[in-house]
Amino acid sequence: MEADSPIILIKIGGSTLGSEDTSFADVAALQQQGARVVIVHGGGPAITSWMATMGIRAEFVRGLRVTDGPSLEVATAVLAGLINKQLVSEMRSLGVNAVGVSGADGGLLCGRITDPDLGFVAGELEADASLIERLTDAGYVPVVSPIAASADDAGQLLNVNADSAAGALAVALGAQRLVFLTDVDGILNADGRLIRRVPLDTGEELLHSGIVKGGMLPKLEACILAARAGVKAGIINGTSAGALPSWLEGSLPGTAVV
Ligand SMILES: Nc1ncnc2c1ncn2[C@@H]1O[C@H](COP(=O)(O)OP(=O)(O)OP(=O)(O)O)[C@@H](O)[C@H]1O
Ligand SMILES: [Mg+2]
Repeated sequence: MEADSPIILIKIGGSTLGSEDTSFADVAALQQQGARVVIVHGGGPAITSWMATMGIRAEFVRGLRVTDGPSLEVATAVLAGLINKQLVSEMRSLGVNAVGVSGADGGLLCGRITDPDLGFVAGELEADASLIERLTDAGYVPVVSPIAASADDAGQLLNVNADSAAGALAVALGAQRLVFLTDVDGILNADGRLIRRVPLDTGEELLHSGIVKGGMLPKLEACILAARAGVKAGIINGTSAGALPSWLEGSLPGTAVV
């Protein structure tokens, strides 16, 4: 792979994983066209279901899940283990030379506990893209799970929001594009209509408007961070066939943060 070919970072949401997902075939096609592709995945629903299986009760503070010690163990096992390896093997079966790493590998993602109420959750993310660059230059498609190392406490793992991880990594890589594949068409306004373009100067307003909620908040935040660094950032519906190439060609509507 050419070291100067454009990097496209794709975040795959847990909500689109396992639905009729054609995104892996799209990834294979993109790579064949000469792009360096990097995947970051989530996995909220699988963590919730494994926590229930393990008898760990989910706790929430201000609507956000608390990651205590046992929850961190389940999150690490499910994200960096099961989901990551399932994705890698599915992609490999489609001819994508995928390799799975977590954010704790090779110094990829470091963070700090910024809100102790939330437990072992990383904020103030710092990304070191050198491992990912080496992998993409060698023709691999890195598949990154959102687990980080603690910058303060050597050896401590931290749970990271996958959208934030994708944003930090896109900036560190100097990616050409950051694309969030999710289960809605993009950011919807109060009437449920798609907002196709979010100019950077109105992005912050939108973030605090009350229109963007829950899982869409960290996506918009990450898009703003990335767009400020010159990355073309977008949020699209990944549940329909060929969504990714259609968005890149301009034929699929979605939300672009510019
Ligand atoms: N203004 C908005 N426009 C669109 N979706 C919104 C908005 N506000 C909140 N949402 C919610 O954000 C959700 C997408 O984020 P969510 O975190 O559920 O998915 P994901 O990040 O793709 O997957 P996962 O978190 O499971 O990895 C939508 O399904 C919708 O319910
Ligand atoms: Mg989410």
